[in-house]
Amino acid sequence: MKVLFTGIQPTGLLHIGNYFGAIRNWVELQYKYKSFISVVDLHAITIEYDPREMEDNVFELALGLFACGIDLEKTTLFVQSEVTGHADLTWIFNTVTPLGELERMTQFKDKAKQHRKNVNIGLLDYPVLQAADILIYKGEIVPVGEDQVQHVEFTREVARRFNARFGDTFPECQAELTATPRVMGIDGQSKMSKSKGNFIAVLESREEIWKKLAPAPTDPARVKRSDPGTPEKCNIYFYHQLVTPEPELSEYIAHGCRTAGIGCLDCKRKLLDNLMKVLDPIQERYSDLAARKGEVRDVLEANAETCREVAGRTMLEVKEKMGLRPVWKV
Ligand code: AMP
Ligand code: TRP
Repeated sequence: MKVLFTGIQPTGLLHIGNYFGAIRNWVELQYKYKSFISVVDLHAITIEYDPREMEDNVFELALGLFACGIDLEKTTLFVQSEVTGHADLTWIFNTVTPLGELERMTQFKDKAKQHRKNVNIGLLDYPVLQAADILIYKGEIVPVGEDQVQHVEFTREVARRFNARFGDTFPECQAELTATPRVMGIDGQSKMSKSKGNFIAVLESREEIWKKLAPAPTDPARVKRSDPGTPEKCNIYFYHQLVTPEPELSEYIAHGCRTAGIGCLDCKRKLLDNLMKVLDPIQERYSDLAARKGEVRDVLEANAETCREVAGRTMLEVKEKMGLRPVWKV
């Protein structure tokens, strides 16, 4: 069985961009591959954060992922900082990574602009830590959203460079995208993200979601209810494609929009209904798991131990190949 590795940062809450862009795929793929999913707290500390909130954020995210359908028994979901090998391998990979390549990474350039007062080495080194995450488990399948594709390509380069210098050790991984690897925010302006505040959270109530949906922009051509629209130009229609089944999608939503048979508010109400059909069971599972916190903690602890074993084996192999493991100790 091939190894799947993916990660998510504990920087607040899960939104439907994460869910439809990536997590839904993780839930499906976990039965096809040996899966490791990491809550990547070491990545999250590369920007300003509140240490008092970190522990809760990490645990809440783990609960949220299990609630979304990550299998507590099947998938090794763990907290990155509990496995020291990730940082060890990052240092090793630093020594085969040209500085210029890191400076050219899109996410680094964006984040360096956003966080001008805190452009630390960790932010620059972020993709190297990500490569170490994947490769320490010899991961081959990396299911992510579109924004992470460059980092996965970079990981392939790291593996190639290491293998060329020290001998064949790491596989070449590939990104695995969902059908919707880029979900726009409710403003319709930019990618849905926690930092932009343009998100719908997976755990938000029906009422809260309606407060965001009701005023959300639609096809600008529909000024009056009687104006026909073009679904493909409407962000609300994009969301419908995520949750509304056929034939309702074509016959009621798309046709209704084109012929002005339905108004934008009717369309949004239908979206709310269909979105809640996906979110309600997740929210129920979340409440259920939140009442069994001890059990979830035990699973995370046992998973970290599994990861320490796998990571430890890879590190021994790496050190041996690099001449860092004196033979008289073998
Ligand atoms: P993050 O919350 O940034 O750690 O992202 C977790 C996962 O969700 C990654 O695989 C991202 O690529 C994916 N993701 C985040 N935002 C979006 C979005 N707006 N559309 C699609 N995928 C996303
Ligand atoms: N950088 C990823 C993100 O922001 C999170 C991440 C860390 C990751 N390590 C990873 C994703 C390894 C895939 C594989 O979404």
